[in-house]
Order: sequence, then C-alpha cells, then structure tokens
Amino acid sequence: MTVPILAVREVVRTFGGLRAVDGASLDVERGSITALIGPNGAGKSTLFNVVSGFLPAERGSVQFEERRIDRAASYRIAQRGLVRTFQVPRALTRLSVLDNVLLAAPNHSGERLSGLLLRPARARARERSARGRAEELLALVRLEEHTHDYAGVLSGGQRKLLDFARVLMAEPRLVLLDEPMAGVNPTLGRQLLEHVLQLRAAEGMTFLFVEHDLDVVMEASDRVIVMNEGRVIASGTPAEVRTDSRVVDAYLGAAWST
Ligand SMILES: Nc1ncnc2c1ncn2[C@@H]1O[C@H](COP(=O)(O)OP(=O)(O)OP(=O)(O)O)[C@@H](O)[C@H]1O
Ligand SMILES: [Mg+2]
Repeated sequence: MTVPILAVREVVRTFGGLRAVDGASLDVERGSITALIGPNGAGKSTLFNVVSGFLPAERGSVQFEERRIDRAASYRIAQRGLVRTFQVPRALTRLSVLDNVLLAAPNHSGERLSGLLLRPARARARERSARGRAEELLALVRLEEHTHDYAGVLSGGQRKLLDFARVLMAEPRLVLLDEPMAGVNPTLGRQLLEHVLQLRAAEGMTFLFVEHDLDVVMEASDRVIVMNEGRVIASGTPAEVRTDSRVVDAYLGAAWST
C-alpha cells in the first residue's frame, strides 16, 4: 500500500471501566472506499469520534495525510479535509436546512474581521457560489423542497441526508460515514451509495463507512476492516474478510458462512 491517507495506531478510549476502543490500529488507502464493520458496541462510532476529534484518545496516535491529528480540535480536523457524519445526526434545528449546509462551507478567507466588515466583491461572489453549491447538494439528496424549512422539521432519515450534504459542502478529502443508509428510505439509500462511488471516481474522495448491511459492504467497498471489542480483528478485501474464521466467529456467523 502507498502512504495511507489515514493511519490509526493503538488507539485507546475508555468510558469508566469500559474499554470501548482498546488498542485499535488501521490504515485507510487514499481513494478507497473502506467499510468498517463489527457487532453492536464494537467501538466503531467511538473510533470515529476519536479520529474526527470529537473525543480525545487516551493513548495511541492518528495521522491524516501524514500529520498527527489526535490532539487537534474537531473543527481544525474538518478544515484540513477530514469530515464525518453522525450515526444520529445533530442538525441545528432552529436554522434553515440551507443554512445548515452553508455553515459547512470551507472558509477560505479565514474569517478575518476586515473581510466581514468590508465585504469585498470577492467575498460576495464566494457567498453566491457557496449558496449555489449548497442548493446543488440539497438537490442531490432530494431535500430541495425543504431548503427554507427549519432543520428541526426533518425526519430522522432526512437528517441523515442533510448530514451527507453538509459533509460534502466542506469539500473533504476523507469522509467518515457512520451508518449513512440506516433510517433512509431504500431508494434514496441506493442513490447515496451511487453518489459515494461517483465522488470517489470524479474527485478522488476517500470514504470510510460503517455499515451493517453486508450486501452493501460487499458491493461498495474495496476493503473491509472488522472491529470486535474495541480492536481491529481482521482487514482485507470483502472476499478475504468474509471467509476469515475470526470474522465469522465474532460477527458474521451463519449470515455469511454458507
Ligand atoms: N459516551 C459514552 N459514554 C459511555 N459509554 C459509551 C459512550 N459511547 C459509547 N459507549 C460504549 O462504548 C461501547 C462502544 O460503543 P460504540 O458506539 O462505539 O459502538 P459501535 O460499534 O458504534 O456500535 P453500533 O453498531 O451499535 O453503533 C459500547 O459499549 C457503548 O455503550
Ligand atoms: Mg455506532
């Protein structure tokens, strides 16, 4: 493998006595679609929280594009190009759907006060193009009818779609998706998957996604990483992982062993 876009080494995160992530290590190859699977409580979301800077690791390191990020704040990590969606998205319910997406726009000006006060033509043009892109993304996830509604009126599935639009607005290079299709209607879920494949092809975006539907995993991913009890117990191509006896024992059982 070439230099991985993401390298996680021996990360530990506990909650009281519970070792939610217990020395997990993994690599994600640039330009790949990598699935992270494992039983409920395996530590997948906690690992996402650590990698994206929402929870500090107690031990271990995380490198994104060869730079340590395990002490960086989540917004800094997002600015560097690593963004994540949430298993249960947290939309800003009192803002419009459009504003929720616009807030994720990369801030090329660095938000200097002078820029805010003077409003040069360049900044105004950028605002217009950000709005255009936000509207495109909302159309992509079929939320255009809700553009001006409060995000609070959206259903759970619609909030997942909004969250997907939000991360793409940030123009990321690595996207972590935590069960992106759970709760989304199956037709839209399919389309979401198509968008992921297309964004990888067109823009070389890298995706690491948690997914319980193994048919989706087999179809969409280049590599699969398997977690159990806070550790990575196997990784490889979908075909390799599905026949790995440790994986079958820990997770797949009869569902995949036939
Ligand atoms: N904030 C928290 N406080 C206390 N315990 C937590 C917290 N977050 C997660 N845990 C516990 O850590 C363990 C790992 O949880 P995590 O959510 O990372 O699992 P997961 O692999 O994402 O599971 P699922 O597939 O159900 O989403 C679980 O036992 C969970 O109850
Ligand atoms: Mg989870």
